[in-house]
Amino acid sequence: MRPILPIPVLITWAVLVCGGAYAVTMRAGSATAIVGPSQQGLTTLKERFRRPDGVPHPKANPATPEKVALGKALFFDPRLSRSGSVSCATCHNPSLGWSDGLTRAVGFGMVSLPRRTPPVRNLAWGSAFQWDGRADSLEAQARMPITAPDEMNMPMDLVVERLRAVPGYAPLFRDAFGEEPIGARTVTAALATFQRTLVSGEAPFDRWIKGEEEALGADARRGFALFTGKANCAACHSGWRFTDDSFHDIGLEAGDDLGRGKFAPPSVTAMRHAFKTPSLRDLRMQGPYMHDGQLANLDAVIEHYVRGGERRPSLSFEMRPVELSAQERRDLVAFLASLAAEPAAVTLPQLP
Ligand code: HEC
Ligand code: HEC
Repeated sequence: MRPILPIPVLITWAVLVCGGAYAVTMRAGSATAIVGPSQQGLTTLKERFRRPDGVPHPKANPATPEKVALGKALFFDPRLSRSGSVSCATCHNPSLGWSDGLTRAVGFGMVSLPRRTPPVRNLAWGSAFQWDGRADSLEAQARMPITAPDEMNMPMDLVVERLRAVPGYAPLFRDAFGEEPIGARTVTAALATFQRTLVSGEAPFDRWIKGEEEALGADARRGFALFTGKANCAACHSGWRFTDDSFHDIGLEAGDDLGRGKFAPPSVTAMRHAFKTPSLRDLRMQGPYMHDGQLANLDAVIEHYVRGGERRPSLSFEMRPVELSAQERRDLVAFLASLAAEPAAVTLPQLP
């Protein structure tokens, strides 16, 4: 059942129609009588984007500093690949925002893979991984790139055999897992735990949410109003990570990649060409974007949303054309830029 207006639009309208929190904050003191309710509406809206404290780790795989350190060593260790030359960090490179800067990933034997490498960040809060969500945990995900013939191309028992042969790994595994022998479970558990610790730093947007009014320029604040209102972006890019962890067909040019549709019964039309909503934090402002890197820059992304995507049965009902002026487009981009934190320095691990 399609609501006449999505809830974020209604909320922003409430905010703006009640006198306009933006107007109020920009023209201080102009409308005392309406400051109350409009501030209230904006406060409620902002609360939905407030970042949580701490990082959740599953009960079945609790974090310890030793496990994180082991996971980090494994993440950067090319011995996890058959050729001995590719590590997780080859594609998820910290100096490229935990991705590779490419339109699409390059795998084993320099083959171009069908999809773009997503950054591994803020995944501790995720519920489905890969563009099509085919992994239900980071532990399950970690096995996929290692064993995929076109990625690291290593059977898990060969990984285990190799790691057991490296004397320096034995004490690291013992500190992390006690007497449990080096095995597929401990390797993937450590990789998952390390990745859960990769969290975006505090962005200007977060400081604004916390009440630092000057942290955002007027353009980014207008961009937030558009994002949560008229442009309807927050219907899918919701919450502090700017993703609903769900799958949508946004009407991009479709090849033969069905995305989530591969795992849904053919009767579930909406999942055809549906991909996971990516987080918009720490977006690489220079692109490329989307699961296959088909949109080169942010102008192209915004133009796509202005047009509303290709009309086809699987197109999300949240997608519809929207008119945005040149100024409004710049405001949206300014808002997206405000979601990026200064990149934190990453120290490389000493490999055993
Ligand atoms: C050859 C490049 C490459 C290598 C090596 C690689 N990845 Fe990836 N990674 C990708 C690509 C491409 C995807 C998206 C795959 C898809 O959706 O089908 C991905 C997806 C992921 C995701 C899912 C992120 C999300 O938002 O759902 C995680 C987590 C991840 N990789 C972790 C790892 C780990 C851990 C390793 C090492 C064991 C690794 N990757 C090695 C390219 C790579
Ligand atoms: C119907 C849900 C939905 C709506 C509405 C929506 N998005 Fe998206 N967005 C997605 C999905 C899903 C993807 C990934 C699509 C793919 O790769 O096939 C995406 C991708 C993106 C990307 C690329 C990110 C990356 O890492 O490649 C940007 C930027 C973006 N959206 C911004 C916006 C903006 C701005 C708006 C509002 C104008 C918006 N989105 C509205 C679901 C949505």
